[in-house]
Amino acid sequence: MLQERIAAPRLSNGKAPAMKDRVPGPGAATAADDDAAHESRLERAQRAVDSLARTRRDRWYPHFHIASNGGWMNDPNGLCRYRGRWHVFYQLHPFGTQWGPMHWGHVSSADMVTWRREPVALAPSMPQDASGVFSGCAAESPDGHLMLYYTGTRKKTLDGSGRHEREVQMLARSRNADASAFRKLGMIVDCPSEGMEGAFRDPKVWRQGGRWLLVVGVGSESGRGQIWLYSSPDMVHWRFDRVLYEHPDVDVFMLECPDFFPLADADGNEEWVLSFSAMGSKARGYTNRNANSAGYVTGTWADGEGFTPRSAFRPWDWGHNYYAPQSFEAPDGRRIMYGWMSPFAHRMPMDRDGWCGQLTLPREVVLGRDGRIRTCPVAETERLRCVRRDIGPVRLGPNEERTVCDDAWAVEIVMEVNLRETTAERAGLKIHHTCDGSYTYIAYDDQTRRIVVDRQAAARGDRGYRAAPLSESDLESGTLRLRIFIDRGSVEVYANAGEQVLSSYSFASPGRRRVTLTSESGVSSIGSLSIYDMRGIGLD
Ligand code: FRU
Repeated sequence: MLQERIAAPRLSNGKAPAMKDRVPGPGAATAADDDAAHESRLERAQRAVDSLARTRRDRWYPHFHIASNGGWMNDPNGLCRYRGRWHVFYQLHPFGTQWGPMHWGHVSSADMVTWRREPVALAPSMPQDASGVFSGCAAESPDGHLMLYYTGTRKKTLDGSGRHEREVQMLARSRNADASAFRKLGMIVDCPSEGMEGAFRDPKVWRQGGRWLLVVGVGSESGRGQIWLYSSPDMVHWRFDRVLYEHPDVDVFMLECPDFFPLADADGNEEWVLSFSAMGSKARGYTNRNANSAGYVTGTWADGEGFTPRSAFRPWDWGHNYYAPQSFEAPDGRRIMYGWMSPFAHRMPMDRDGWCGQLTLPREVVLGRDGRIRTCPVAETERLRCVRRDIGPVRLGPNEERTVCDDAWAVEIVMEVNLRETTAERAGLKIHHTCDGSYTYIAYDDQTRRIVVDRQAAARGDRGYRAAPLSESDLESGTLRLRIFIDRGSVEVYANAGEQVLSSYSFASPGRRRVTLTSESGVSSIGSLSIYDMRGIGLD
């Protein structure tokens, strides 16, 4: 029933969807008009970003993470490798440092180490995306174009029938080999008139078995978070296939930014990973502490069948600020994922500095033989390391503190904690530790057997702590391996080769930013500790 209703999308004014005029080739007069309207919106957006960038303050602006030059940014979009370059697009509000009418910002790189800024890629300019160019993805067409799928949103229906928000799926196509300019082709999937409550966004497209598949996040008419699957023979004409997944938690009313991909372990055993950003889940114990939660379930799936989840929900990241991840498959087969360090829920101190929001490092998503998924910075990240200082081994007595770096504002710390010899209740380090006494504390907590990022001593921004569980087998190994990336205003902690990750903003006070080892009520044995200064990625 649902399938019939959705298979033939029509605008509610009874007209055929606009895409019929524009896809597959841009028509003459209207296409030129649309291009001109889009161009002028893009130029205005670019001027606004450039102007914010001129007066930006950099005390917390990232040195080795992707962020907009100025303005607000959120989700990573359109991740891909296209004609020899990596492309990262992102949700951008160019006119201020709070969320607002969405555009797509863009950066690209030849090596995933050094990046260059590209012009703003997409701006609201058509009736269907008048209120915002929301999240989406990229895919290369067989004739070599980069296709951008995104959600167009507008405040009112075109026939004025009274609904406030209307979300439809849209398509744009590259106009040059650099993918630095795009032509909008119009709407490809209209907003279904039944089955959903209004939220219908964030298309993710991939090719499989000679056809194209698309997942999209839906807030269902019964108020549940769902993911719907569509298929297409040609990237342009889409048919509803099925409701792929409904979140079991009745509090979850929308699944944003769905992503769906297979992952094989070293023996070739495959799992399908269904990733989403769930809205509405309530905090329970250590989980769902952020406004919304991004994570995944794994299971089995074959084209033409339903998805059978086998695992429970697991967050991608346990930090204070992580949301809306997107992945893509690199040409060498790696599954690479970026997340957004989300500032939602609390006003962010950096929004007075002319910018707001950054992405995480790119992470490789790997399925272990033990069936567990780990996410680690991609190997390219090691090329950002420059000067190396070896500090360890270090042994701290009960309640001892020791400064191991006088001023760390862009570093990677690699360390191993010898758990057999450590008796401290909490063993860890204070980062962004400034002379006013503020810091962010990263520690292994032996009572909860978790890795903790605690911001109770933060002078600025939101406080609170987050705590990720460590697996019994990792704990039994007797060694805790940590990689800690400290940027000007953030920290990413990777425990045990990405078994657990925490990403949090950390707004250092003025002055030198020390790193101080700390051992609470017991001794701490650090087997090794190295600090690398990090090169910039070319964007600050
Ligand atoms: C997730 C999200 C998406 C939407 C975009 C709008 O953070 O809400 O669902 O497309 O951000 O900026």
